[in-house]
Amino acid sequence: QVTAASGHTVVLVDQSDEILKKSAKGIEESLKRVAKKKFADKPEAGAEFVEKTLKNLTTSTDAAAVVHNTDLVIEAIVENMQVKNELFKKLDKVAPERTIFASNTSSLQITQMANATTRQDRFGGLHFFNPVPMMKLVEVIKTPMTSQSTFESLMDFSKAVGKSPVSCKDTPGFIVNRLLVPYMMEAVRLFERGDASKEDIDVAMKLGAGYPMGPFELLDYVGLDTSKYIIDGWHSLEPNNPLFAPSPLLNKLVEEKKLGKKTGEGFYKY
Ligand code: 3HC
Repeated sequence: QVTAASGHTVVLVDQSDEILKKSAKGIEESLKRVAKKKFADKPEAGAEFVEKTLKNLTTSTDAAAVVHNTDLVIEAIVENMQVKNELFKKLDKVAPERTIFASNTSSLQITQMANATTRQDRFGGLHFFNPVPMMKLVEVIKTPMTSQSTFESLMDFSKAVGKSPVSCKDTPGFIVNRLLVPYMMEAVRLFERGDASKEDIDVAMKLGAGYPMGPFELLDYVGLDTSKYIIDGWHSLEPNNPLFAPSPLLNKLVEEKKLGKKTGEGFYKY
């Protein structure tokens, strides 16, 4: 959405036409919200912005078939290294030499993905934040093998889509999630111990620390499954780090398919 809105040609790839239809509808709705805000006094210009952006965007279920003429691939699939690497391996065989590959992973090692391909120098991380149309930040990740020119292209791309990039080494959680995920997990542990209600913890962090959302609202927003994937991955890397300890409550909610806003229930009901 954000790439198309800034005038680039985008092909959105997913597993089925049904998912793509849902995504296209979500993008259109989100674009209308952006347009309403950006062109508050000029509804016609807003409608034109939406129409123009949608024209830049097509969809496909076949990544290998559409990658032959692309400058940049941004992967944002399930947080599973094996699945990601299978995709990258497949695309590496058919993508042109010049194509840069980037992952939007929240917590997995970019270096391991780059090593699944033959283009380690043209591989980096581009980590966006929810909701992407609103959040200004992108973390650009440079592995020891990412070339300076690839890194600069990723920084330039981030600016070209209207974001403010920061750079970080290929370390677990980069900057934001390394700080944010342990904070959210500490909130869950505070609630699990019965020290405070989730409602009061949310109010406290909004009114006492100026955060736009409390940790439970944010967990529901990001998705409890995503949060669990992240913490489980880090726990396996550093089993003795108490900040990375899994939470029985989070695990129970995920098991019950209460994944947050997207399923209608997480810590709260929607
Ligand atoms: N698309 C387009 N516009 C949107 C939008 C979206 N998805 N979400 C919000 N907006 C815009 C709209 O203009 C909306 O007005 P509308 O309701 O009339 O359409 C306007 O923002 C205001 O939105 P809200 O009234 O819903 O509420 P807020 O003013 O509180 O803003 C928020 C919403 C920007 C989500 C704000 O609450 C916020 O900044 N929350 C924290 C988000 C955060 O911390 N994100 C990082 C998560 S971590 C992550 O993503 C990393 C990953 O790896 C796990």
